[in-house]
Amino acid sequence: MNSLARRIPFPLQERFYRGLTGSLKYVGRVLQLIIRPPEIFAGPGASLLLCDALAGTNTPRVLLVTDAMLVKLGIVEPLRARLEARGVAVTVYDGVLPDPGVEQCEAALRVLQEHGCEAVLAVGGGSAMDCAKIVAARATNDTPVWEMTGFFKVKHAPLPIYCIPTTAGTGSEVSVGAVVSDPAQQKKLPVIDHKLVPRMAALDGRLMLGLPRAGTAATGMDALTHAVEAYIARIAIPESDQYALEAVSLIMRHLPRVMENGKDEDSRQMMSWAAYRAGMAMNRAGLGYVHGIAHNFGAHYHTPHGWANAIVLPYVLEYSKADCRERLAELARVSGLAKGGESDAQLADAFIAHVRQLKADFGIPEGLKDLRADDIPAIAEAALAEAHLSYAVPRYMDQKTCEALIRQMLV
Ligand SMILES: NC(=O)c1ccc[n+]([C@@H]2O[C@H](COP(=O)([O-])OP(=O)(O)OC[C@H]3O[C@@H](n4cnc5c(N)ncnc54)[C@H](O)[C@@H]3O)[C@@H](O)[C@H]2O)c1
Ligand SMILES: [Fe+2]
Repeated sequence: MNSLARRIPFPLQERFYRGLTGSLKYVGRVLQLIIRPPEIFAGPGASLLLCDALAGTNTPRVLLVTDAMLVKLGIVEPLRARLEARGVAVTVYDGVLPDPGVEQCEAALRVLQEHGCEAVLAVGGGSAMDCAKIVAARATNDTPVWEMTGFFKVKHAPLPIYCIPTTAGTGSEVSVGAVVSDPAQQKKLPVIDHKLVPRMAALDGRLMLGLPRAGTAATGMDALTHAVEAYIARIAIPESDQYALEAVSLIMRHLPRVMENGKDEDSRQMMSWAAYRAGMAMNRAGLGYVHGIAHNFGAHYHTPHGWANAIVLPYVLEYSKADCRERLAELARVSGLAKGGESDAQLADAFIAHVRQLKADFGIPEGLKDLRADDIPAIAEAALAEAHLSYAVPRYMDQKTCEALIRQMLV
């Protein structure tokens, strides 16, 4: 924050942020009209159907963006083989690392250019999907990646983007966003543009059967956070509410089941659908402080994105509840927590307590062991900068309050 802004009393700043993010409601409504949602293939084997459909688009060469682990696990090969069998030449870039940085995106772009690929297929979690989106945008835009961060900076339509998520979490398969990191500067920022919405996405729970417990918990809690933050956002609209409530209800039922038994194919499929619906809610109503803080935990300590969200979520809900009790109460109802006769205040508390209990059941700690007290002012400042300019949070906080909130996560 520059020194001039620092001298403006926070209530005045808050009025400005409220006005700015309040206007995003209209952006959400416009996006609702102009976003061409991806063609969705859902169910066991949907990933192969997407390959067939991609082959039908008359695209001779495709860059498949993934990570080395997914190649090793044998998830990539059947998809590559299916495309090749349908006459599509596939070049595999498997250099994606969690929280992809600009360098990885640029390396993948060079591979795409060397092989003359005309489309990008992501196979992986949010990291592979976001990297693929950035590569597709860079292929048609000379703009450096950092100049594309923020809203609507992707000038020319990217190459066609196809997504096969292998985690049920980020919603990147439907979202207008792609998150990019710069480890050297401890920055992690979103590129947000409706042109980044994929052409097609496959929701294939079978690809997720081998996702380890920690990854399942983190990604599931990421999806939950998308739905919750979209639902309590001031700019929520009926469509985002519908998607968010559907997602929360499915996650509360099926995330414990996949944590109990990772091979539960039906629940994996339902989680995949829930993450997609949560992504649709997030597209329309945005996110909030949880993501602002979690992105900065990721930028400083490389905390897995969903893990960071899960740690932060109850603290932000506890702070926010004074201004969104009815909404939290509704989330408690769709989570099956209402017995009858409780007040909204009791239900809001029950929802937050349930989130804490889920974390405990899944082995997610209350605090972040990497968090250093010295880093808190910088983390709070970056989190507030992201949230105040991008998200319509229900209850605002200033720098001191945010620092105190983050300090609760010191262990
Ligand atoms: N674009 C968006 O809208 C959006 C939204 C939220 C988060 N994100 C970003 O997405 C990234 C996180 O994505 P993520 O949480 O999906 O994790 P990830 O893509 O970073 O993957 C995490 C690990 O899980 C492994 N993995 C993935 N699928 C697997 C499977 N089926 N079986 C076994 N291992 C598997 C990967 O190899 C990797 O090692 C972050 O950079 C985050 O900021 C983007
Ligand atoms: Fe997220």
